[in-house]
Amino acid sequence: MAYSVLTENMCGIVAYTGNKPASPILIDGLRVLEYRGYDSAGIYVPGSGCYKAVGSVQDLVKALPGMLPGHAGIGHTRWATHGQPSTVNAHPHHDRAKAVWLVHNGIIENYTELRERLAREGHTFVSDTDTEVLAHLVGDAYERIHDLPAAVVEALALVDGTYGIAVMAEDMPDTIVTARFGSPIAIGIKEGEYIIASDAAPIVRHTRDVLYLKDGEYAVLSPEGYGVFSFKHEVLNRAPETVSYNIEDVQKGGHPHFMLKEILEIPTVLENTARGRIVMREGNAKLGGLTDAADILRETKCMIIVGCGSAYYAGMVGKLLIEDLTGIPVQVEVGSEFRNRPIVTKEGTTLVAVSQSGETADTLGSVREAKRRGIPTIGIVNVVGSTIARETDVGIYNHAGPEIGVASTKAFLSQLEVLALFALYLGRLRGLTQARGAEFAMEILRLPEKARTILSRREKIRRLAGEYLGYDDFLYIGRGYNLPTAYEGALKLKEVSYVHAEGYGAGEMKHGPIAMIDEVFPTVAIMPSDSTYAKMRSNVEEIRARNGPVIAVATEGNTAIQDLVDDVIYIPDTKECLTPILANIPLQLFAYYTGIMRGLNVDRPRNLAKSVTVE
Ligand code: AGP
Ligand code: GLU
Repeated sequence: MAYSVLTENMCGIVAYTGNKPASPILIDGLRVLEYRGYDSAGIYVPGSGCYKAVGSVQDLVKALPGMLPGHAGIGHTRWATHGQPSTVNAHPHHDRAKAVWLVHNGIIENYTELRERLAREGHTFVSDTDTEVLAHLVGDAYERIHDLPAAVVEALALVDGTYGIAVMAEDMPDTIVTARFGSPIAIGIKEGEYIIASDAAPIVRHTRDVLYLKDGEYAVLSPEGYGVFSFKHEVLNRAPETVSYNIEDVQKGGHPHFMLKEILEIPTVLENTARGRIVMREGNAKLGGLTDAADILRETKCMIIVGCGSAYYAGMVGKLLIEDLTGIPVQVEVGSEFRNRPIVTKEGTTLVAVSQSGETADTLGSVREAKRRGIPTIGIVNVVGSTIARETDVGIYNHAGPEIGVASTKAFLSQLEVLALFALYLGRLRGLTQARGAEFAMEILRLPEKARTILSRREKIRRLAGEYLGYDDFLYIGRGYNLPTAYEGALKLKEVSYVHAEGYGAGEMKHGPIAMIDEVFPTVAIMPSDSTYAKMRSNVEEIRARNGPVIAVATEGNTAIQDLVDDVIYIPDTKECLTPILANIPLQLFAYYTGIMRGLNVDRPRNLAKSVTVE
């Protein structure tokens, strides 16, 4: 059964207009959307005001004076991208006259330019968010033309980025305008009442007649009726569809597990991670969070990248990328080791902490130890406002959206992409040519489509997992950029299927591990057609000579490999230094399918936590 897989999984929007009190419906809907990740929440009901709270929806309920009068309103659970999680940064946001209020899911890339232009026109802002700028733009237009739908469309025409929004005006207390570009908007249709949300989860308990807006469409809703329009204001005859799935289905985007949903989001995440961060004409990356550190980075003599688990393996790839593009020596450290030994560093060292949650105790401890020694610190973090994000001197947010599955999938690939952008940024500070930078940047922009190609073949990987279900031990081998891939691939299999797997440098096989090889000990060989291929092929020949089963991850077009190994998973060709971003996708899928075929809870593996905040 085809479901609409969510393209954006940041925050949650709920809006209602009809014949019932709005606030209970809004709160109930926000509770259902909390799975989408949140750090704060808020609602606005015309005539009753706006209430916000940091933390959960329950914290918002505590801030309410009881049920609010008013039969229409908008609500939001925020997953911050611009501006720390705080009450003032929580949505809804309003214009300067407090005449227009809106909630937003997505990222306004050009908010800085828009904010500066509005400031020159006398606007002042209360929050640090990109969203507030949009509220001011709509408010300005509304003040001038007094037509809310037209004001919304006029404001959106100035915006670069992604949005799903719901907008209300204080003087039109039962009308809601909602619009979509890049972030989902679903509209539940009932007689004389409508509920709008980021997905159908809050809707299906009220009605199963759901209309999904498409990019470039807006809708106007009030108890008198609704209409759907293009941004050119053409009337669109869009009928709702009858959805049959339940809330749990919707929360997983129609997929059986968050882990699969998040793997399938990888192309969108790769797009979001790079969004607004590549300046092709300069062959460079634009990383606003590093502006204050440009001089330090220009003078840095060596780097330490610290992380734990998958983040540590991402750091291993980051080391090679940075050394390749800048010539700066980089050492990679496991947080739990680095923080517990006398750190030997020299003048000109910079520390980079990689952490999805931004709360991992051993990584945080390493940051604090580095700061205690006066070492500049940079964070590569997914959760905005997390401890590591706040305690590092500067940083780069992943913009990967909340990752619900305990196993890091989309966030890990986003870490690799951020490290590639970081290496490009550093390289261009230190002599990398514009031409080489542009070529590198162009290949980064091609990765989402190449990831889609791999995902389109996931049925083959599912079958392969079934064929190898009986084995209890696996070896993952790689070289160069894909030695970390071997470690990470083995970790994924271990943590979601509990099968023993070991990542190993292929060049080390003859120094011991080859003694383990036999017909019941399969090897996954990550062997793209790059500088390591010939040696990888030799390693695989040695394994095959001892009857070891081999699954190869190889580059499309390499048909010769089929004569040597038992099974091949193909990935599109890309630059050698970017192959880990593609090679890890089939390994994530292999682990996922193995785990579910073993009947395990791949979203919540035993003994694991999403963020290891203990040492
Ligand atoms: C990855 O699948 C694991 N869940 C784990 O290794 C994780 O990468 C590690 O705990 C680091 O977490 P962080 O990125 O939030 O710091
Ligand atoms: N970019 C907006 C913010 O940071 C919206 C984020 C979201 O989708 O929750 O407030």
